[in-house]
Amino acid sequence: MSISLYVHFPFCTNKCHYCDFYKEVYDSSQEEIFYNALAVELELAVEKISDRTISTIFIGGGTPSLTNLDLFEKFIQKVKQNFSLVPNVEFSLECNPESINLEVLTRLKEIGVTRPTYGLQSFNSETLKTLGRDHNVHQSHQAIYFSNALGFKTFGVDLIFGVPKQPSQMFSSDVEQLIDLDPPHISFYQLLFEPNTPLYTKYMNKRIFPLDDELVLAMYKSGCEKFKDAGYVRYEICSFAKPYHECRHNISYWDGSDYLGLGPSAHSFIGGVRFYNSSSLKEYFSSLEKRELPREIDESGIEERISEAILLGLRTEWGVNKKKFFKRFEKDVFDYLDEVQVDRLQQSGHLIVDDEKLKLTDEGFFVIDEVTRLLVK
Ligand SMILES: C[S@@+](CC[C@H](N)C(=O)[O-])C[C@H]1O[C@@H](n2cnc3c(N)ncnc32)[C@H](O)[C@@H]1O
Ligand code: SF4
Repeated sequence: MSISLYVHFPFCTNKCHYCDFYKEVYDSSQEEIFYNALAVELELAVEKISDRTISTIFIGGGTPSLTNLDLFEKFIQKVKQNFSLVPNVEFSLECNPESINLEVLTRLKEIGVTRPTYGLQSFNSETLKTLGRDHNVHQSHQAIYFSNALGFKTFGVDLIFGVPKQPSQMFSSDVEQLIDLDPPHISFYQLLFEPNTPLYTKYMNKRIFPLDDELVLAMYKSGCEKFKDAGYVRYEICSFAKPYHECRHNISYWDGSDYLGLGPSAHSFIGGVRFYNSSSLKEYFSSLEKRELPREIDESGIEERISEAILLGLRTEWGVNKKKFFKRFEKDVFDYLDEVQVDRLQQSGHLIVDDEKLKLTDEGFFVIDEVTRLLVK
């Protein structure tokens, strides 16, 4: 068996209006302290892990493409001293277009990154402004161009839809421009109004208005259709890939595999137990100074694990596999579903149940929140 490794890089130069991921304003002196703490966390975490093979690495954030490359390289060497990497390891790193250039990408590739992902979000400058992004369309094009030029066999891009004031034509143009660039992987995110973000405050103060739900759904449907026509497979509700370009790291989260998360706010799931790291750089540093892991155990029990597995499975194109579910939990998945709704949702064309699995249809995907609310007991 092998595990996945997630590292949270907690710095950004910009704080986008809509984002509530944990991040601090970038500061090079803090970054050095961060890498020292990360090295201690790795040492302590490794002592508790028997599985020392890594199949996927994902450096997320924050803005990992801002990182000091010497410090990053040293950290990756430390990872390799403690774990062996499978020969075809998938090594993703999240990049913001404004912090990428040919030199940075070349170095990242030399260090071992196989799969950069780019938060392009939109090709429209008004939409980028509403989101509070710090990059321009030229930088987005360059990022893709550089990835191809450097021979990255795979890479991903993120596109956001449902942005206030985003007219349908602008959205369609975003999707078309993205397809023209032909990225192997697309993450297609609906904009969420997260509490404690400037966007949410504007919404509460009636200075910005979300688009109608119907329009947002129409955008999702239209994106799905255009991506499908262009040869992408939707393998999860927000994830579209050309064949063999699915993100193996994300799949490991959805199928209940073990993963180790390092860095502030990172989660881990090891041997059936979930841990949460502190979402404060200060607390993170102070625990590791005392050589204590900055984590808390998630006390939720097996029932939560089970409903989580069903909900995550239903978000994927392959659904919930009945045999695998039984093997993992020693329970029948149907014990956790409302039988009447299982029948109704099959008849209404939202759900497919066969000998092997249960999965949503296209229609089911379009109303996934409603379907799962009815289905899961
Ligand atoms: C947290 S960011 C980290 C990577 C990088 N800094 C970036 O901005 O692309 C990962 C992805 O989450 C998306 N994201 C963050 N907050 C979101 C929200 N409220 N709704 C939808 N997507 C969001 C970002 O747009 C980005 O594509
Ligand atoms: S979306 Fe990315 S760049 Fe923007 S604040 Fe969040 S983590 Fe930073």
